[in-house]
Amino acid sequence: MRTGRLRHVTGAVRLEPVEERNLESLLSVAVAEAEPDNVMPPVDAPAGWSHARREAFRDYYRSGFPGLDGPARTAMYAVLVSGEVLGMIRMTRRAEPGTVETGMWLGRSAQGQGVGAAALRELLNLAAAAGMHTVVAETTRDNAGAISVLRRCGAKMIEDGDAVHAEISLDATPPIL
Ligand SMILES: CC(C)(COP(=O)(O)OP(=O)(O)OC[C@H]1O[C@@H](n2cnc3c(N)ncnc32)[C@H](O)[C@@H]1OP(=O)(O)O)[C@@H](O)C(=O)NCCC(=O)NCCS
Repeated sequence: MRTGRLRHVTGAVRLEPVEERNLESLLSVAVAEAEPDNVMPPVDAPAGWSHARREAFRDYYRSGFPGLDGPARTAMYAVLVSGEVLGMIRMTRRAEPGTVETGMWLGRSAQGQGVGAAALRELLNLAAAAGMHTVVAETTRDNAGAISVLRRCGAKMIEDGDAVHAEISLDATPPIL
């Protein structure tokens, strides 16, 4: 559900690897404008943005610092517009060669303005540059925002009950506008 004021986002969307220097900005956006369940794996900690959950957030995002070839097999990027961190997009190696899974989130006030699709297009360029041929995503039927962004980036959708599996072939990605 969208709550709060909508920030008017203008300017190009840029991705920057999540690093120590932008980690606290990312955490601030998450705390102010996102639910823990949307931005990090579940942890056994008091509800909400408790101290333990903030520490777990830092640990989770630090696990991505070594990138696709590190132990977490994940490259994480802060989504920036005009130098401001608005959210995160990641890719994680899958067992199938040349395939990564993507996931993303934006702070509430930055949603619904096309930032997600622009960030995914940038991620597709990075995935192709890393030698990938397929980007997949797992979402649910009720996530209209995610489904719209994935479709706009050329994803084929396979529904299985409430689950939706999306697959983007990088050879068939629509031209970057
Ligand atoms: C999913 C998400 C990344 C999409 O990025 P976005 O920049 O908001 O996407 P867009 O601005 O391109 O909007 C896509 C569509 O979803 C709609 N939408 C986006 N956010 C919405 C919201 N919070 N509530 C209702 N509709 C929303 C937009 O109106 C748009 O509809 P359209 O295609 O009919 O025009 C973003 O909404 C988000 O961070 N959601 C929370 C975390 C999440 O669900 N991540 C994905 C997990 S698979």
